[in-house]
Amino acid sequence: MSESATEILLLSGPNLNLLGAREPEIYGTETLENHVETAKNAAARHGLSLHHEQSNHEGELIEFIHQATGKSAAIVINAGALTHTSWAIHDALKSFSGPVIEVHLSNPGAREEFRHLSVIAPVADGTISGFGNLGYELAIEAVASLLGRS
Ligand code: DQA
Repeated sequence: MSESATEILLLSGPNLNLLGAREPEIYGTETLENHVETAKNAAARHGLSLHHEQSNHEGELIEFIHQATGKSAAIVINAGALTHTSWAIHDALKSFSGPVIEVHLSNPGAREEFRHLSVIAPVADGTISGFGNLGYELAIEAVASLLGRS
C-alpha cells in the first residue's frame, strides 16, 4: 500500500448480489447497493473513498484481493458462504498488509453449525456480525480508526 492510499476495497462474495430478495427474514430487505451506499457515506465522512466488487467466484475474489496491494489502504470483506470454507481467500488476505475487517449481516455464530467456523477471522483485524446494514458503517468506522482517521 502506498502511504497516501485512501481507498477502501469492499468485497462481497457469493449470493450477496441477491440481497433484498434472498431470505429477507435473515438478511433483511435492503439490497447490496444500499449496503455499499452506507459504506461509501461512512468512508466519505473520514475522507476515504470506497471501491466495491461483488463476485460469485472464489478465484475472482482472490484476484481483487491481489490487486488491492499498492492500491487500497484496507479491505472490508463479506465473503458469504466462502467465509466458512475458503482457505484460498484466507491466504490471499494474509498477503495484504493493510487492515482487514470481516463483516456479516447476520450473526453466523447463532446459526447452523457449519457457519460457526470462519477461516477469514484468523487473518482479519476484527469481525462485525449480526447488525445488518449498520455493520457496514461499523466496519468503516473500524477501518478509519485503524488508519488513524477517526
Ligand atoms: C453472511 C453469512 C454467511 O454464512 C452466508 O453464507 C452469507 C451471508 C452474512 O452476511 O450474514 O452468504 O456472510
